[in-house]
Amino acid sequence: MTLIDLRQDAEDFNANPYPYYAKMRAAGPVHRIRTQDADGVWLVVGHEEARAALNDPRLVKDSREINGWRDESQGLFTNMLDADPPQHTRLRKLVAREFTGRRVQALRPRVQEITDACIDGMLSAPARAADLVDSLAFPLPMTVICELFGVPDLDRASFRVWSNELIGPTGGDQESAAVLAMSDYLVSLIEAKRERPGEDLLSALIRARDEDGDQLSAQELVGMAFLLLVAGHETTVNLISNGVRALLTHPDQLAALRADMSLLDGAVEEMLRYDGPVETATYRHAAEPVRIGSTEIAAGDPVLVSLGSADRDPARFPDPDRFDIRRAPQGHLAFGHGIHFCLGAPLARMEGRIAVRTLLERCPGLALDRNGGYEWIPGLLMHGVRKMPVRW
Ligand code: HEM
Repeated sequence: MTLIDLRQDAEDFNANPYPYYAKMRAAGPVHRIRTQDADGVWLVVGHEEARAALNDPRLVKDSREINGWRDESQGLFTNMLDADPPQHTRLRKLVAREFTGRRVQALRPRVQEITDACIDGMLSAPARAADLVDSLAFPLPMTVICELFGVPDLDRASFRVWSNELIGPTGGDQESAAVLAMSDYLVSLIEAKRERPGEDLLSALIRARDEDGDQLSAQELVGMAFLLLVAGHETTVNLISNGVRALLTHPDQLAALRADMSLLDGAVEEMLRYDGPVETATYRHAAEPVRIGSTEIAAGDPVLVSLGSADRDPARFPDPDRFDIRRAPQGHLAFGHGIHFCLGAPLARMEGRIAVRTLLERCPGLALDRNGGYEWIPGLLMHGVRKMPVRW
């Protein structure tokens, strides 16, 4: 199969990957690609095939041997998203109860308070203009996950730098420096919590025992803290900013939502489908030969599943490039599928709904300050912008 080299179009692809995905889908459901951060990996682009791949136990996660520096990470990658059953099952069970719809509903008043405070700050900006990422999209999910974890004084500036480095395509020395800095920081955070436990999630995880009476090992604690803190803030940021950008660039949809807020939940699902935060799911590897469509994937080959492409597949969503808050986008893959389906989906949905509703209610004249010229997050993993200037 021909290798599709996207490196020379990297900037264009980062800004708007959807036309590239449309071309690939038209040619077949799976391709071999080369990008800045993926060299010769299989990319699944069709919706049905993506769903099946995410649910295929032959496509495994645990790949610690692949990156040499992972050994120095003190457990960063000893987390459920990098694990297969039975380890995955054990790790997920230990925190699943903290993220159920019911538990998350109890956080609603506090999420509303944090949102209100963020928007108060934004509206106090001179000249009725601000950056939506800095004022709301980043601080809201970050504050929520830090409070939930009991680490309100997390060094957010450093954390954001390391985390950006880890999800980006840089690789090499910069990335391993971020791995080391992040793991050292998490080890000392956990030590401090051990000495002064509280009623928070991190203290609960330190105390937690699974059914066999085992506790999380030191490495597993670092891995869990890493996964939840990174997943808790890299993703919802882009739900809020990509979602608000979709609304502000589709005035008919914005007007429809302003006129009838009962459309809100569907609108947030459509934001996730149309321009979701996670562009490709994390790496999987074929544990044995796997056939996807008519393509034979050899044992050991790396496989990426493009959620962004799957959710624009016309075979699943008619007229997929149209942003339509009244469509039924059920079955979108923005939160993944199968055993790794996003644990934080109820929390992310609640934060997204509260953020969008409050923003529209409090800023009747909200508009983009410019359309285009954005700094896009590099790499295949996330789709979104670093800054999004708005005015009102
Ligand atoms: C809009 C926001 C979010 C999106 C779009 C999103 C998306 C995803 C996706 C696509 C996966 C699966 C990745 C794969 O299979 O390779 C995933 C897994 C996960 N997410 Fe999220 N996520 C969001 C927010 C959150 C939040 C707020 C949290 C927690 C605080 C969270 C925690 C997790 C965890 C722990 C996993 C791993 C689950 C497992 O391996 O069993 N996510 N997320």
